[in-house]
Amino acid sequence: MELREAILSRRSIRKFLKQAVPEKLIKEILTDSQWAPSWGNTQPWEIMVIAGPPLEEFKQKNKEALFNGIKPKPEIQMPEVFTSQLKQRYVDVGKNVLQSLSIGRKDLDGRLNYYGDMFYLFDAPVMVLFLLDKNVLLEYAMLDVGLCLQTLLLSAHDKGLGAIVLAASVNYPDILRSLFPIDANKTIVIGAVLGWPDREAPVNGFERQRANLDETLTWIKS
Ligand SMILES: Cc1cc2nc3c(=O)[nH]c(=O)nc-3n(C[C@H](O)[C@H](O)[C@H](O)COP(=O)(O)O)c2cc1C
Repeated sequence: MELREAILSRRSIRKFLKQAVPEKLIKEILTDSQWAPSWGNTQPWEIMVIAGPPLEEFKQKNKEALFNGIKPKPEIQMPEVFTSQLKQRYVDVGKNVLQSLSIGRKDLDGRLNYYGDMFYLFDAPVMVLFLLDKNVLLEYAMLDVGLCLQTLLLSAHDKGLGAIVLAASVNYPDILRSLFPIDANKTIVIGAVLGWPDREAPVNGFERQRANLDETLTWIKS
């Protein structure tokens, strides 16, 4: 796929086909992601791939924790305060997702079920978890993880796979730590899930917006 086309046509996927992803393909994507730039080529990201029955167990427990009202305790602080403009964008994407699923604003059960699906990682067959050593400077390493993540998303898209970055996958680190061998000196940063996208699903096709360039750009010329 041509690069610009890949950048513009990539989107977050929230419904996957029940079809396994070959390990070889996952390794190719992760090998591509290794080519992301990083501070001093330090490549601080550490990656754990989780699939099969262990992932099923995690999805179930993650969803149960949400439904049991367990307080989220992410190891990287979640954004809680926004400017009104950012808040509006956040609200808009939520509205668009729910609308695409025909879940009305007042349909509390529908919304709860949707959040259950999200914490069930949209039933994707593969999760890629990003960890950072607690000894690296978090802010710069987070820039590096972000670059690696976007490279992963584009490489997956190039191979016909769908993906989504999911804060919902790291809200309950205790569950992740109880199921998987995550060292105490590693911080759980973020997870992304991968799978074959259901191209018929409206939730994978709703229109998304981006700010006009003049809303974000200051250009100094003289
Ligand atoms: C750090 C991060 C965390 C995210 N967490 C979630 C999440 O928990 N649930 C979800 O539905 N989407 C999540 N997303 C996906 C965003 O909603 C999505 O990227 C955004 O709406 C832009 O849409 P696009 O990816 O289709 O271009 C996350 C994205 C990022 C970068």
